[in-house]
Amino acid sequence: MDALELLKSRRSIRKYKSTPVEDEKIEKCIEAARWAPSASNKQPWEFIIVKDEKMRKKFAELHPYAKFVAESPVVFVPLTNPEIHPKYHMSDTGSTIMHFMIEAHSLGLATCWAGVIGASFESELKKLLNIPDHLNIMAIVALGYPDQTRESSRKPLDELVHWEKYSK
Ligand SMILES: Cc1cc2nc3c(=O)[nH]c(=O)nc-3n(C[C@H](O)[C@H](O)[C@H](O)COP(=O)(O)O)c2cc1C
Repeated sequence: MDALELLKSRRSIRKYKSTPVEDEKIEKCIEAARWAPSASNKQPWEFIIVKDEKMRKKFAELHPYAKFVAESPVVFVPLTNPEIHPKYHMSDTGSTIMHFMIEAHSLGLATCWAGVIGASFESELKKLLNIPDHLNIMAIVALGYPDQTRESSRKPLDELVHWEKYSK
């Protein structure tokens, strides 16, 4: 599939089948994440993959907008390291999430990004996962086979794009 078709057809999915996700597919998604671009190629990220149901249920209790991680068989947890790149660590680690989600979509899997960094419950999540102080949790990202179809929309191009100079 053309990259644009893949990008446009990906949706945030909040209902998942209980079908397990094959490890080879999870590994491909992580590999895609690893190949994200980063400022000065510093790669200020580490990743945790969580399958354990008890842990996923605890995530769902703590995160007010990510109840679906209790059902998705896998949760991808990208960690970001501000010490490696104080200015760009978040945009770099955000790119890993997009790579992960697009690879998942290309494999017939679905995802949903739920933001964590800076949230009041981030420290509780860090404790659960034994994450050292110097790392932050960028997000928790559900991964699994979709059990719903969804539509989405974007602002029209002419509201966003300026050619050559900013113009109103
Ligand atoms: C930084 C970020 C944080 C998000 N946090 C949540 C969240 O907490 N819960 C949720 O259900 N979706 C979350 N989303 C998904 C967005 O709601 C979704 O991408 C948006 O509504 C567009 O839908 P689409 O991805 O299907 O095109 C988040 C997305 C981003 C990029």
